[in-house]
Amino acid sequence: SNKKLLILAGDGIGPEVMTQVKRVITWFEKRQGLSFSVSDGLVGGCSIDKHGVPLTDETMAEAMDADAVLLGAVGGPKWDNLPFEIKPERGLLRLRKDMELFANLRPALVFDALAEASSLKTELVEGLDIMIVRELTGGVYFGQPRGIENLPNGERRGVNTQVYTTSEIHRVARVAFELARKRGRKLCSVEKANVMESGLLWREEVTKLHGEYKDIELSHMYADNCAMQLVRQPKQFDVIVTDNLFGDLLSDCAAMLTGSLGMLPSASLGAADANGKRRALYEPVHGSAPDIAGKDLANPLACLLSLSMMLRYSFDLGKEADLLDKAAQEVVAGGFRTGDIMAPGCTKVSTTQMGDEILKAL
Ligand code: NAI
Ligand code: MG
Repeated sequence: SNKKLLILAGDGIGPEVMTQVKRVITWFEKRQGLSFSVSDGLVGGCSIDKHGVPLTDETMAEAMDADAVLLGAVGGPKWDNLPFEIKPERGLLRLRKDMELFANLRPALVFDALAEASSLKTELVEGLDIMIVRELTGGVYFGQPRGIENLPNGERRGVNTQVYTTSEIHRVARVAFELARKRGRKLCSVEKANVMESGLLWREEVTKLHGEYKDIELSHMYADNCAMQLVRQPKQFDVIVTDNLFGDLLSDCAAMLTGSLGMLPSASLGAADANGKRRALYEPVHGSAPDIAGKDLANPLACLLSLSMMLRYSFDLGKEADLLDKAAQEVVAGGFRTGDIMAPGCTKVSTTQMGDEILKAL
């Protein structure tokens, strides 16, 4: 069946890395018999330039209708001084909000050939493969009441509210349990149940849900301890599930275990509709990298690995995703490196040449 794929390359290095992704999509169509119906759209600064808004209603509607959305990156100095409502990032925020992408999947995977680039000792991260599932649409970033108030005594007060309902906890925990089932069957749920009611509820509800996933080994950990354990002994983890705020911090922390921003993919999943189709957005973790944009220098692997996540999670094409992951591992192990992951004795390649090598490896 034809898989509807919307590509939003965005700004800066977005279009450059996406060009390599498209070459690989074409390879999968020609050589593996996959069939996609791909359309392109604008998001971020390029959309502001053309339409005056970072995301048009038409493009938003296309995203809602697509089986998966693949995004490059948005933003850049050209648009930095615009008012908040029409900044490039707003396009991304609207996509996340309207598609109700509540589960953010951030793998922290260390390629053997890059283990030495980690901020930690090589032996601590060799073979590391963690998946952090961060709740993305609730919690303290959205809870009401919020705002800055003037108090009668002349003080000002900044207020945010951490709230989670049972259904919000269940739906993200389900995604995490299901993922654990396809991986190492271990799930660690992270909160601060010792000092927060929302954390206590989180722990109780995840524990209840565990009844449906008896084959998964569930553990609970306080967020501060988890931050410490990620740096002390990261390989103890398989899948981690946590709220929006803690997930923001822990996923950035885990990212640094892997060395380079140019290697990190992500997926954001929404609710499944009546036909079981889940809205989904795939994007590299990095931004538009204005400092290297337009120079064919960017590492396309983060975006290519995001494509691999799309194959795996939106289309259940695990074998094809494995092919692409393995090609990336091989190319890096073969010493082909863009500037961001360059090491002594390796061959420096451009964005395009990295794409060439991936195709050869495939
Ligand atoms: P950035 O991720 O764009 O760049 C940080 C550093 O990492 C830069 O030195 C860059 O050259 C390097 N880098 C990033 N991706 C790379 C890749 N694939 N290959 C090689 N090197 C890479 O973050 P920064 O500089 O904070 O933000 C730049 C712009 O991107 C801003 O306008 C920001 O708002 C936007 N941004 C967009 C994001 C998105 O679209 N999801 C996420 C983060 C930032
Ligand atoms: Mg962050």
